[in-house]
Amino acid sequence: MDNYGIQSSKLSSFYLQVLKSKSQSVDEFEMIRAHFLESEGFLEGDSIGEKSTLSDPRKIANIARKGISEASDSLLILRLIEFFQYKTVLELGTSLGVNTLYLAKPASVESVVTIEADEGLTRIAKGTFRSFPKIKSMLGDIDEKMPEINQAFDLIYIDANHTYEATLRYFNWAKNHLTAEGTIVFDDINWSRGMSMAWKSIRKDSEFVSTENYNRGILLRHFTRDTNYPYVLNF
Ligand SMILES: C[S@@+](CC[C@H](N)C(=O)[O-])C[C@H]1O[C@@H](n2cnc3c(N)ncnc32)[C@H](O)[C@@H]1O
Repeated sequence: MDNYGIQSSKLSSFYLQVLKSKSQSVDEFEMIRAHFLESEGFLEGDSIGEKSTLSDPRKIANIARKGISEASDSLLILRLIEFFQYKTVLELGTSLGVNTLYLAKPASVESVVTIEADEGLTRIAKGTFRSFPKIKSMLGDIDEKMPEINQAFDLIYIDANHTYEATLRYFNWAKNHLTAEGTIVFDDINWSRGMSMAWKSIRKDSEFVSTENYNRGILLRHFTRDTNYPYVLNF
């Protein structure tokens, strides 16, 4: 379905202003990305989580090149946050923290919590976040950190352990920690068979309107699902 098939005017505005729009990247954040891309350094400590597909997964420049969101992807989420004037954001999977900077950029945002299990990455991200007091970085496995979180978020961005089981676990937790008109975003929905199976199951949840492109799946609690129309809005 595209914009011509959308009956709700707010959903139509969302489609045009968030999904189909383009915006300028933030120079300050892109300079930080450029610094990582040029780095000759390696992460301290051992890697965690599922096996990385990067050629040298501890090389900072390789992570900056292949392991983090591109500016255009981060800008889409930034527009989404601005569209709904969201205040509270949670990111699962910080990596180098460039995407986190974009999540914290909109003036409406009061706080961003971001969780990362890799010590080397968290050390680097924390260094960057020193000048961004809205961002709180947590070090540890998400499954262990989730019980410590007792607040609800307007936006939950899920981009960590890319397995079927973990994705469903994160989703079930996120549903119970999402505000009444909140949004959940999943990255890499076609990264593996497990991820695409998880997303196909998750997007059927009748509490949400879902929208997706090849990489990203978005669940919107803001709109009610009209059973006369398909629940998938492609962008
Ligand atoms: C794709 S990267 C995140 C990229 C970042 N969100 C962005 O948009 O640029 C995924 C991150 O999740 C972290 N991660 C994987 N499994 C995790 C877990 N169980 N707990 C916490 N972090 C985890 C990895 O170390 C990695 O840094």
